Amino acid sequence: MSRYSAITGWGKYVPEGRLTNADLERMVETSDEWITTRTGIKERRIARPDESASTLCIAAAREALERAEIEGSDLGLIIVATVSQDYKFPSTANLVQHAVGAQCGAFDMQAACSGFIYALSVAHQFITTGAIKHALVIGCEVLSRVMDYTDRGTCVLFGDGAGAVVLSASDEPGGLLGFTLGSDGAKPELLYIPAGGSKEPLTEEGLREGKQWVHMQGGEVFKFATRIMGTAMEEALANAGMSSDEMDLFIPHQANLRIIESASKRLGVPTEKVFVNIERYGNTSAAAVPIALCEAVEQGRVLQGQHIGMVAFGAGLTWAAAVVKWTAPVVSGPTTTTSTKEPASAAVQW
Ligand code: UT7
Repeated sequence: MSRYSAITGWGKYVPEGRLTNADLERMVETSDEWITTRTGIKERRIARPDESASTLCIAAAREALERAEIEGSDLGLIIVATVSQDYKFPSTANLVQHAVGAQCGAFDMQAACSGFIYALSVAHQFITTGAIKHALVIGCEVLSRVMDYTDRGTCVLFGDGAGAVVLSASDEPGGLLGFTLGSDGAKPELLYIPAGGSKEPLTEEGLREGKQWVHMQGGEVFKFATRIMGTAMEEALANAGMSSDEMDLFIPHQANLRIIESASKRLGVPTEKVFVNIERYGNTSAAAVPIALCEAVEQGRVLQGQHIGMVAFGAGLTWAAAVVKWTAPVVSGPTTTTSTKEPASAAVQW
């Protein structure tokens, strides 16, 4: 009998602190008008000083486990996709494993914004080979800790958050039907943190030069993104034996509304089938796709038997896409760990 890997649980956590375009107008030379028209972003969430990647992951994970109606001890694997882990080592997945009471292997994966779909495809292998029954897959970032809030080219774009899914073995046809992964490491400097690794350990001089922060050549990444989003999604659909008009919902990486619109147009996906929440969270890198998936389910935009296309791109450069047939019965409604507070920029301390 075939084994399939189905999403049986989903959860998210976004910090309460909001950094609005109006806040950014007071910090760098920018405007709400520029940010809105060039990116589609209105505000992003910023973690409190006592929050970190692991606390965000744990909150999202608990919700996903609850939805899947399993305990941490039922898990066979935990993967956290992040570039803003608590420590260089040990992995954030180790911390999550302890917190949720799991007794299984746990590791972090790094494919920048594409990380969640990379991790999902890895968990899928463990499940479909019969090695494990349940995997917890999390995409999480606290990018506010590596942002230069004097660089208007990057600081207006990124935010913090976490999204998690439980992937479970199933005999019912569905779940992850096809995926594709890609990498082009020719120009790492297009989007990177220059120092703090083994190539250039962080020195006082490096700190003065701001080499601990995210550096990006936005225009180059933009051109790459508009090309790769459609191609990658088409590849994953072809691997699933499907075409783009069979997608019921398209969940693209939330990096820039203009990139999303360009990819949707290229794929011929009508606006009503495209999920967008970038205006509220900005680009949360590896967390963007799972947070969007979770919200789409909560909003009743995913029904049993429907096909969801997900695609992401990011530093590396990397890209990844996946097609999932939704098999879980959907109970819509807001999640317990999401803030419902009104915008409160005062919540963000600098
Ligand atoms: O997950 C992957 C992460 N990265 C991305 O997805 C980034 C992809 N790239 C982008 O989204 C866009 O390239 C940006 C939003 C970063 C920039 O938009 P753009 O339309 O490509 O602008 P640009 O870089 O060509 O800059 C146009 C102008 C420049 O001024 P001058 O040289 O024409 O005078 C910039 O200095 O806009 C200026 N600019 C800004 N102005 C106000 C750049 N950032 C800002 C800003 N506010 N925040």
